[in-house]
Amino acid sequence: MSAVAVATPPERTLGPGLSASVDAFERVRTALVRHAGISPHPWRLRDRALERAGARGADLDAYAASIDAAELEALFERLRVAHSGFFRDPGEFIRLGEWIGASPGARAWCAGVGEGQEAFSLATVAPHAEVLGTDLSRRAIEHARQATYPREALLGIPPALRGRLLDGAEATGERVRLAERMRGRVTFEVRNLLGPAPQGRFELVVCRNVLYHLDAAARVTTLDRLADALSTGGRLWVGERVVHPRLERLGSGLYGRRGAL
Ligand SMILES: C[S@@+](CC[C@H](N)C(=O)[O-])C[C@H]1O[C@@H](n2cnc3c(N)ncnc32)[C@H](O)[C@@H]1O
Repeated sequence: MSAVAVATPPERTLGPGLSASVDAFERVRTALVRHAGISPHPWRLRDRALERAGARGADLDAYAASIDAAELEALFERLRVAHSGFFRDPGEFIRLGEWIGASPGARAWCAGVGEGQEAFSLATVAPHAEVLGTDLSRRAIEHARQATYPREALLGIPPALRGRLLDGAEATGERVRLAERMRGRVTFEVRNLLGPAPQGRFELVVCRNVLYHLDAAARVTTLDRLADALSTGGRLWVGERVVHPRLERLGSGLYGRRGAL
């Protein structure tokens, strides 16, 4: 008789000595999903939750029982994927910048903007647009407002656009602070994608490399918010394939609002 491999149920894969804490782990996971919608790999969540519990001198059960809004924020900070950069996909930034440039006074929203590079990239190619960057991470938004980046992070800026973004920048050692003129072009605020969208409508909404980290229900909620935030004729750049009743596909990872408001 051939051996049949039986998959270990996920709740039994938490690691040695943790079987008694399966319920606690599940409580932490549920609270985190409700708070931020993110769905990290169970091992990663386990490690970070244990680290946070240890820092409070608690075991996982006590940690799960005491987890509150402040702790969820701290746990989210340990788990969020922060990878970002200037002009990731320069061709699409330039195309969308030219497109939005045709509507003077247009508004653009970078949702899940991280440390701000995406919003500054957009502001560079859309000099007349009002750009808003939001993220759930307080730390990321503080960083974005500082607009200070390691010198090597600026290498991704297309040479023809460097002057626009970097003229007047202040360098201190290996760190460069974008010029006041550029910093003034973008507004940043802490905002959860699972909560209300910013006021008003946007001609362009950018939400890249975010949906991938969310669980299924949070993706739906987020897409609802993003679709509702679009003006008639507005565009949503998510950079991945999505399906939503109020969105029509215009190109790779690019969507338009279906129907008038
Ligand atoms: C990988 S970064 C993407 C940054 C940027 N959009 C880019 O593509 O370069 C993902 C960002 O999503 C943010 N994020 C995750 N869940 C969020 C939520 N519920 N509300 C707002 N931002 C969230 C994280 O804090 C993080 O900054």
